[in-house]
Amino acid sequence: MTGLFPDTRLRRTRATGWSRALHRENVLTPADLIWPLFVTEGNGVEEPIASLPGVSRWSIDGIADRAKEAVRLGIPCVALFPNTQPDRRSDDGAEALNPDNLMCRAIKAIRDACGDDVGILTDVALDPYTAHGQDGLLDEAGYVVNDPTVEVLVGQALNQAAAGADIIAPSDMMDGRIGAIRGALESAGHANIQIMAYAAKYASAFYGPFRDAVGSGGLLKGDKKSYQMDPANGEEALREIALDLSEGADSVMVKPGLPYLDIVRRVKERFEVPTFAYQVSGEYAMIEAAAAAGAGDRDALALETLISFKRAGCTGVLTYYAAHAARLLNG
Ligand code: PBG
Repeated sequence: MTGLFPDTRLRRTRATGWSRALHRENVLTPADLIWPLFVTEGNGVEEPIASLPGVSRWSIDGIADRAKEAVRLGIPCVALFPNTQPDRRSDDGAEALNPDNLMCRAIKAIRDACGDDVGILTDVALDPYTAHGQDGLLDEAGYVVNDPTVEVLVGQALNQAAAGADIIAPSDMMDGRIGAIRGALESAGHANIQIMAYAAKYASAFYGPFRDAVGSGGLLKGDKKSYQMDPANGEEALREIALDLSEGADSVMVKPGLPYLDIVRRVKERFEVPTFAYQVSGEYAMIEAAAAAGAGDRDALALETLISFKRAGCTGVLTYYAAHAARLLNG
């Protein structure tokens, strides 16, 4: 309980560095971070992404090096996103099912380089593979059809699992996909592969740089509002989370991050399950732009946002700052 001034002076415990350290309620460590990485074709290739300053696409050799770097820095997990070449994209996203696609080759290269020292999270959704940039299959009216899309997503997840993924992370927001993927993984003998559901994923304006990074931005017509959530909704997020947990998700994610910390807090308090947030590309770009404009110190801004995720209740955070933050934290 808090007494009355002057018996109680909350500034007492804040007066010195040692005391602030002693009373700190939350800590951020490299083990809290998941590092999203963009994969591209070629060898020895690093392509900077203009709308994501400081982030590049890497060819598979570079991806393996980044994974080794993650291990050195104490980052437990990397998340992979492929920049599929335009000639491998199609209306049905069939490249997602190719056992030799960019994603599968990247998974194997990381496993060869790092063994089980790093977790490999793979995104399940068709947007890196479709010619129209939507996450699923379209009917004639351009509507993303649910059940036929789920069938393809199951194939995509099994393809990633066979290549060696550790965490399957469906980001497509189709209804019923977690249960379908869980059942297929069980039947295929992958009982220990985890599912991290992008359970509360919003139709957000903060995904722009990501779409540039995977090459789907210029292709996308319309929006994703018929499957991703309305930013005005909170209760609906709790229903999404409840469903995905009942269908067999091991952990859940809220996305984007900082504008949705109220959702993180509600999810954590209601369900008491491993809860992650994705500090998405537009959030990262916003901090970079602010720092470049002289509006704040880049490192301080980044670390303040990351501890805020912990304070809100996150188990961990997907962030493009992962490697940089880990370096800062490791001193
Ligand atoms: C694909 C996917 C997206 C992101 C992660 N997976 C984009 C989208 O839904 O359009 C966004 C991540 C980011 O912005 O950093 N479904």
